[in-house]
Amino acid sequence: SKRIAVLTSGGDAPGMNACIRAIVVACEGAGHTIIGFEHGYNGLLEQNWRKLDSKKVHNIIQRGGTILRSARCKTFKQDASGQLAANNLDELAIDALIVIGGDGSFRGAVHLGKFWGGQVIGLPGTIDNDIYGCDATIGYYTAIDTAVSSIDKVRDTADAFERIFLVEVMGRHAGFLGASAALAGAANYVILPELFTDPESVLNEIQQQVAIHRQRYGHESYIIVLTENLWPSGINALAEALETRTDGEVRPVILGHVQRGGSPVSQDRILATTLGVQAVRSIEQGKNGIMVATAQGDVVEVALEETWQHKKTLGNTLTHCMLTMLNERHHWP
Ligand code: F6P
Repeated sequence: SKRIAVLTSGGDAPGMNACIRAIVVACEGAGHTIIGFEHGYNGLLEQNWRKLDSKKVHNIIQRGGTILRSARCKTFKQDASGQLAANNLDELAIDALIVIGGDGSFRGAVHLGKFWGGQVIGLPGTIDNDIYGCDATIGYYTAIDTAVSSIDKVRDTADAFERIFLVEVMGRHAGFLGASAALAGAANYVILPELFTDPESVLNEIQQQVAIHRQRYGHESYIIVLTENLWPSGINALAEALETRTDGEVRPVILGHVQRGGSPVSQDRILATTLGVQAVRSIEQGKNGIMVATAQGDVVEVALEETWQHKKTLGNTLTHCMLTMLNERHHWP
């Protein structure tokens, strides 16, 4: 039997608790010891940990956030931190560490691997879905649902006033959440990093599209989904520019951290549980320096470095669907 540790790091995502639960249950069933470090890599540096067992993870599968807490640990990039973490893990006689998080957390895991002889396994957990090598990250499906139900609500008021609404979604620098929320929410237009040209062209295009929309449907509501960190001067400036160009009322809505919370949808619970169980299996098989994930229905193992060295693309199907359903533009750059 092994001594295994788990931590959650970076932006929390709905389903992280479901994943911790699965790891604990799988470890207990196989006779491994399992501990959890608190506050991401900070807990590893400060020896802040607790023993986990199935009683402690009872009734958490439906809870958002993470019972282990999370953090972005900037100092973990340093050699001294990597060494200290390695010493702390050795002191506790840990054989393997599971890191649930996004690409920053995986970089931390690889950094640790330079100083530590134990096994490091990453599980993709972020609402952004921006990790190469997997179809979906834990939390992504729930965040889409949250964004979509917000768009539905926004449309009610947008319709009532026949206004244009700009809805800003998260995603850091990736458009997965924006694309999916726009499609499922039947938005009229979407602004994504993957398809972004320049502000002037986008403004011109929206102006044209709104004019066409008004001709066809009368002066109706119009919903634009915008990915965060993309519009150079921010969402308010975009709203103002659109008011001038469309001669209508434009209201900006930033969904923000609401998208990180809430009870995970079943897809995220199932993904989180599958990955938690598979991580323990990979540890038993002696694996190291890999992300355990699912791609095209199968469990896959991807070298941690690869998860950020390649850029995950939106994919042809999603892009084609957006071409057809949104923006009414037929020649993407
Ligand atoms: O990575 C998850 C995420 O929610 C991104 O979508 C967003 O850009 C970022 O984290 C926000 O980070 P913070 O919670 O540190 O403000």
